[in-house]
Amino acid sequence: PQSHSLDGKTVLITAGPTYEAIDPVRFIGNHSSGKMGFSLAEEAVKRGAKVILISGPTSQKTSTKNIEIHRITSAKEMYDEVFKYYEKVDIAIASAAVADYAPKIVAKEKIKKSEEEFAIELVKNPDILKTMGEKKTHQFLVGFALETQNEEENAKSKLQKKNLDMIVLNSLRDEGAGFQKDTNKVKILTHSEQKEFSLKSKDEVAKDILDFVETQLKK
Ligand code: C5P
Repeated sequence: PQSHSLDGKTVLITAGPTYEAIDPVRFIGNHSSGKMGFSLAEEAVKRGAKVILISGPTSQKTSTKNIEIHRITSAKEMYDEVFKYYEKVDIAIASAAVADYAPKIVAKEKIKKSEEEFAIELVKNPDILKTMGEKKTHQFLVGFALETQNEEENAKSKLQKKNLDMIVLNSLRDEGAGFQKDTNKVKILTHSEQKEFSLKSKDEVAKDILDFVETQLKK
């Protein structure tokens, strides 16, 4: 691909899971590997962009110092980190699997086992991407959707509700797509277009996504 096609652009990418603390040793998390976000970061840098990667806990590493990586743990921390930079970026891509809820109270000491049943009260986390949509001025905003039913309909409604320019739909129905895999199968939707891609490596998917973004920016 075009080696300088994103010259002069700043791209903000969220990646990985978030961990929501229950007590000093436990958390609520998910199986996101962070691979999709890291592939996007590598590809954007190759195209000449300045990349700010905000990632939750993951074993992924960046191969180049040109990616400015900020590692955070919780959704709240990701939110705070994103909005330190959001105003100044040209493109924002939210590929993180942010926990929807966090424990209302984080126990100061390790919780001892006692009762047969034990409940943890949860409160909703801020929707980082939705807030980016609300604060959008000039940014080209890309979200992800992972749906198990009415995929396209839900992705389209997310595109509207979160004020996005583009949404990448991951299909869980496809073998080899999604969490903890090296491959992904996506459908990209904008307000006026949609395109379905075949199953390929996340590095290749990152190229498809950025190609699509670049085409939209030229319009
Ligand atoms: O609404 P839903 O969680 O399905 O939307 C998924 C998209 O929203 C992804 O792009 C994800 O990164 C983003 N998101 C977010 N903050 C949240 C929840 C989701 O940025 N709290």
